[in-house]
Amino acid sequence: MTSPVSLTIAGDIAVIEVSHPPVNALSQVVRAGLADCVSRAAETEDVQAIVIYGAGRTFIAGADIREFGKPALEPYLPEVINKIEATAKPVVIALHGTALGGGLEVALGGHYRVALSSARFGLPEVTLGLLPGAGGTQRLPRLAPVDKALAMITTGRQIDAKQALELGIIDRVADGDDVRTAGIDFAREVIAQGKGVRPTSALACHAADAQVFDAARAKLAQSARGQIAPQKCVDAIQGAVTLPFAKGLAQERALFQDLMRSDQRVALIHAFFSERQVGKLPQIQGVRARELATVGVVGGGTMGAGIAVSALLAGLRVTLAERDEDALERAGTTVSKLLMGSVKRNKLSQDQYDAIMASGFKSTTDYADFTNADVVIEAVFENMEVKKEVFARLDAICKPGAILASNTSYLDVNAIAAMTSRPEDVIGLHFFSPAHVMKLLEVVVADKTSPEVVATGFALAKVLRKVAVRSGVCDGFIGNRILSYYRKALDGAVMAGASPFDVDRALVNFGLAMGPFAVGDLAGLDIGWATRKRLAPTRDPREAYAEFSDRLCEMGRFGRKTGRGFYIYEDGKSAPDPQVDEIIVAERAAKKIDARTISDQEIVDRYMAAMVNEAARVVEEGIALRPLDVDVVFLNGYGYPRWRGGPMHYADTVGLDKILNDIKAFAAEDDFLWKPAPLLQRLVAKGETFASLNP
Ligand code: 3HC
Ligand code: NAI
Repeated sequence: MTSPVSLTIAGDIAVIEVSHPPVNALSQVVRAGLADCVSRAAETEDVQAIVIYGAGRTFIAGADIREFGKPALEPYLPEVINKIEATAKPVVIALHGTALGGGLEVALGGHYRVALSSARFGLPEVTLGLLPGAGGTQRLPRLAPVDKALAMITTGRQIDAKQALELGIIDRVADGDDVRTAGIDFAREVIAQGKGVRPTSALACHAADAQVFDAARAKLAQSARGQIAPQKCVDAIQGAVTLPFAKGLAQERALFQDLMRSDQRVALIHAFFSERQVGKLPQIQGVRARELATVGVVGGGTMGAGIAVSALLAGLRVTLAERDEDALERAGTTVSKLLMGSVKRNKLSQDQYDAIMASGFKSTTDYADFTNADVVIEAVFENMEVKKEVFARLDAICKPGAILASNTSYLDVNAIAAMTSRPEDVIGLHFFSPAHVMKLLEVVVADKTSPEVVATGFALAKVLRKVAVRSGVCDGFIGNRILSYYRKALDGAVMAGASPFDVDRALVNFGLAMGPFAVGDLAGLDIGWATRKRLAPTRDPREAYAEFSDRLCEMGRFGRKTGRGFYIYEDGKSAPDPQVDEIIVAERAAKKIDARTISDQEIVDRYMAAMVNEAARVVEEGIALRPLDVDVVFLNGYGYPRWRGGPMHYADTVGLDKILNDIKAFAAEDDFLWKPAPLLQRLVAKGETFASLNP
């Protein structure tokens, strides 16, 4: 087999090219090739300097993640990098694309670094539950100030070439777009100026006292609640400051290996690969997406305005329609406010904002303005009659081939499609609130939706930088259907004795971004209420229906937007509302329920058992294609802790038999709600996991 790393001698310069598509990851063959080429270059008499660069779209994007969890193969990366650094001839690293993780560590092991202006740099190991394990925590603070190194390593955030230059991580930003030439030109200067080698490990580490590290740990205890890796990153960087290089490197390696064995690392890597797997659908393999340049949005409320902003930020043209001038003005104000928020956070320049408001964004009360739209996304009230009317009107106006999409949370997309003469062009595009922030897009495929339209839904998600997950049609699709079910289980916990605030606290401690009752307040309690009223006629009389949420809605308490829901919202703060407890106590009394103490662990167990049980049905019915699709939905749309990998991965980790036993135990209290899903029972009987159903 030819090596992915090649050596060319061009006069007095040796050029080493790493060519290992798609992202030049540091697989064993790459590590071996690098070590070999560096040796040969060093031994070639005429060579006076060595250039290392990556072929294709990027420099090295890191270690090969697929090798993690398997026995490590020699040569190990830290040794290869030490070898590069110890070379007696100057090594210039030429960078383009993304130099990430082990890739950036290779660069730090070189003696000089030159980058194209478009290059980006990062140490994202922490996002995989790891720390940079090939000298990154030791060499970076020898080049960049410790606070900057801490920020990069503990968040995994990328920086651009200009910032890297300012921080001292690279020596030059080169003109042009030919990385090989940039490297060779730099090497020529090094030779001409007789600069010699400059091992990073020999530089003094930037100084920082213990307080800097204690402060970083305290901050991460909040911002990275529950996660092990960020804290270990701090330990490793502190080692760079307090220990000699070799000892610091050994400590980094030991910490890295500890993390490699952790459940959090396994979960985070499951999340990484699952997010890349969700888009791989047989149905759209090789299918071309339709053109997408102009987006129509119907309804400019919470969701419509957010969807419009999401599209505008991605450079698409947007026309937004509202039902009257007043609503139109409100929608326009929201769109402008959200875009200004992006300007304030430096995500959008003032010039770009001005250009969007001048020509990119158009608002109207006339659907005739949709005639040129490539896709129209409806986000009007969650009411089937209103939606049907909107789709009939869109059908009459939109050009042939335009995609007609609904952002409905629960309603039947087949019924909506049936209102048009072109059901093959109708699809659900279910965004999550706030739509310009949340990463998830459920692409709801109705019975007649054409593969081309599905492919375009996935292509749109990519343009919007969102993660798309395919869902079949059912009440609530993947996410909200499972949510409805676990909300019933949590309502059950409340009726049995927990308060909604206990539930929120226990689940936030478990790792959720927000408790489910606080989320309800944020989304608007009226949405769930409308759904419950719609489903009331078909509700089974055996269902133990908790009424306290309805009581709040009847009092006009819809959550944040009305200042009260489960919590009271005042002066930008929220506090549990004691009246909620009174309402619940009254309902328990009316139903003759004796409240008991429910532990935080029981709350978590109920939540997880309910989620997994309904998710198993969702997978078995084909609503979600695979367990990993459910995981990606909850990680990106529902604030489920990424370091737990998603509900299905969590279930595999704790054991499906435990989940099934919990379901059976809870059934003693409510055997109508807690019916074990057949798929879960089968997997337990066969001793298999959900992962066995993933590709
Ligand atoms: N190892 C193995 N495969 C990788 C990989 C890696 N480090 N990075 C990306 N890939 C694979 C992806 O799985 C995908 O495979 P597929 O086509 O079969 O699905 C393919 O490369 C392309 O990846 P993307 O779809 O993500 O392509 P993008 O262009 O959108 O993004 C990227 C490219 C920015 C490089 C992104 O893939 C990325 O962020 N990769 C991970 C980078 C990373 O975390 N590196 C650190 C690794 S840990 C480490 O280095 C430890 C060290 O300190 C010892
Ligand atoms: P909203 O009440 O904030 O906005 C609805 C908007 O539609 C209003 O501004 C209204 O004036 C407008 N509208 C009503 N009929 C119209 C018509 N015929 N033509 C043009 N505009 C019309 O509602 P929200 O929260 O934005 O929800 C919209 C849709 O998105 C619903 O289907 C909802 O289920 C769904 N959704 C809501 C989420 C949320 O968290 N709020 C999340 C995901 C989906």
